[in-house]
Amino acid sequence: MINAHNPTATPVATDLDPATIFETDWQIYRTLVDNNLLFHQEVSEILVQEMKTRFSGGFRFLDLACGDADVMSRALRKTAVTNYLGVDLSPQALAIAAKNMEDSPFDARLEQMDILTTLSENPGSYDVIWCGLCLHHFQSNEEKTQVFSTIRSALSSNGVFFSFEPVLPEGISLETFNRQNRQQFREHWSPPLTEEQFERLMTHIETCDFPENTHGWLTTGRAAAFSTAEELFAIPDCGYCRLFRFEK
Ligand SMILES: C[S@@+](CC[C@H](N)C(=O)[O-])C[C@H]1O[C@@H](n2cnc3c(N)ncnc32)[C@H](O)[C@@H]1O
Repeated sequence: MINAHNPTATPVATDLDPATIFETDWQIYRTLVDNNLLFHQEVSEILVQEMKTRFSGGFRFLDLACGDADVMSRALRKTAVTNYLGVDLSPQALAIAAKNMEDSPFDARLEQMDILTTLSENPGSYDVIWCGLCLHHFQSNEEKTQVFSTIRSALSSNGVFFSFEPVLPEGISLETFNRQNRQQFREHWSPPLTEEQFERLMTHIETCDFPENTHGWLTTGRAAAFSTAEELFAIPDCGYCRLFRFEK
């Protein structure tokens, strides 16, 4: 069994109850998304275009670690998707996702489940699998390759997997990367994050995130037997997170 660190649980000494911890950490994440600091808008536009071009006649979509499904609930309305499944470990995030998926013109289901369980229970089932900002919580390259293999197995024969993940620049250590990010993120992210929110986020990033470099992410896809592995988008200037496409 491979275990990812839970990104909604920041390892900071606290006497807060789990609901308050969720609320605190989710507020931080929402601030980043609402201010488009992680470029979700650009990423979702590329994904919509990809899905329109590839699947004009309907398709099945799996949203791994969907969180509140905010971005996808809006993006998928512009596509011909027929079936959506969103999975996440957090019941609080899924409750918000359920509201966001209300009135969706496609069949939308949400499940509180580990991504690996969902994947292994549904071989060959999905035309598109999307995972945003979760796979970097698997620590080693071997663990990541195993997850990618399971994702590939869950795809239909012409299926495609998109991932959006932090990327370690070539030739620098994770420690140096974290140090540089602290400086750069402070300039761009705080404000709107308060000082306390910024510190909490950085503690999470510095203790729970295990990004690969671009070559590493692409090689992981090829090692998992994907026929293609390409980078589609990088956050301008810093390239902190990148969108990758892997075809079965
Ligand atoms: C940073 S949020 C990303 C949400 C969304 N994918 C996005 O791009 O906005 C990460 C999410 O991954 C979920 N998560 C982390 N590990 C998971 C796992 N092993 N199985 C299912 N969900 C997981 C967390 O609960 C959280 O909602």
